[in-house]
Amino acid sequence: MKATARAPANIAFIKYWGKQDEKLRLPLNASFSMNLSGAFTTTTVEFSKKYTQDIIEFVSARHAELVSASKKVYRSRNEFGMIVARDEKFSLEEKNRIIKHLDLIRAKAGISAMAKVFTQNSFPKGAGAAASASGFAALTMAAATALGLALSEKELTMLARIGSGSACRSIPDGFVMWEKGTGSESSYAYSLYPSDYWDLRDVLVIVASEMKKFLSTEGMSYVQSSPFLQSRLRRIPEKINRIQELFSRKDFPALGELIEKECLNMHAVMMTQAPPIFYWMTETLKLIHAVYEWRAQGLPVYFTIDAGPNVHLICEAKDEQKVIEKVKQLGIAKEIVVNMPADGTKIIEEHLF
Ligand code: PMV
Repeated sequence: MKATARAPANIAFIKYWGKQDEKLRLPLNASFSMNLSGAFTTTTVEFSKKYTQDIIEFVSARHAELVSASKKVYRSRNEFGMIVARDEKFSLEEKNRIIKHLDLIRAKAGISAMAKVFTQNSFPKGAGAAASASGFAALTMAAATALGLALSEKELTMLARIGSGSACRSIPDGFVMWEKGTGSESSYAYSLYPSDYWDLRDVLVIVASEMKKFLSTEGMSYVQSSPFLQSRLRRIPEKINRIQELFSRKDFPALGELIEKECLNMHAVMMTQAPPIFYWMTETLKLIHAVYEWRAQGLPVYFTIDAGPNVHLICEAKDEQKVIEKVKQLGIAKEIVVNMPADGTKIIEEHLF
């Protein structure tokens, strides 16, 4: 009745912002992402009659290298990067959301035993580094495995989606498509290409590690108030086709252009919602301008940003070191996490308790 899963965060190249069904977390549009090797969540779940209530805790790194948070570059040649110790806690709201998800999985298995859940992140949660994606992917796989539920990858993605939409994209390997669907059964994620298909990099520049004011769930519930939403949604199918075409011929500059335009399009919707949401900070904008300048100097690097101020710099492996050097020279990075394309969520043998 105990299992541990490790799940990568993912960065969306075509973004998800807005739901057609709040409860089932069915998205308004399809999205496409890359799993991240250096940003991941490890979660151990144990169901047992000995627990009188659900116990949900963040744990600090145990088998991990403890490092200071200032301007250090973390990288991984292995499947996953290293874990950074942080003093983080779940809020009551977050705990309740996790318990709701456990209830769903318990109902599927037909059991009522309480659970102990320990979770560890390799990156700051709530700062646009997609902690809810890796968090709910790891929780779903660990809890389903602990309860002996024999679910297919597709079923796991549908279950993870109900916990947090983007979590479904962290289950399959590599480069992942999430179908919009018309109901719970048709909105699932699958791998379009394995992680070794294209040696891309996501140099994640963390400029702020505090919790964002608008969580994505709350933020996207106002999406209908943006006058730009419909024009955004109209263009998504074309973008989904285009990204598949660019992947099939590995056209990096065209991919970069598309990723950047798509990011700006989503943020334009966010900024024009009522109330408007600005996830960017001064440092975010400094990085955007720097990227334009670096490109003008001949360095092929492109940016994308999620629901937070941190900036993901997308480049090819050959340019990784140059991009890191440029970022360091700017002097605004609190942390730099270098990500390679990664496999999806896996069961591991090493438990957190
Ligand atoms: O699944 P959520 O609630 O973490 O929403 C994620 C939304 C974005 O990160 C902004 C975009 C995306 O597709 O990942």
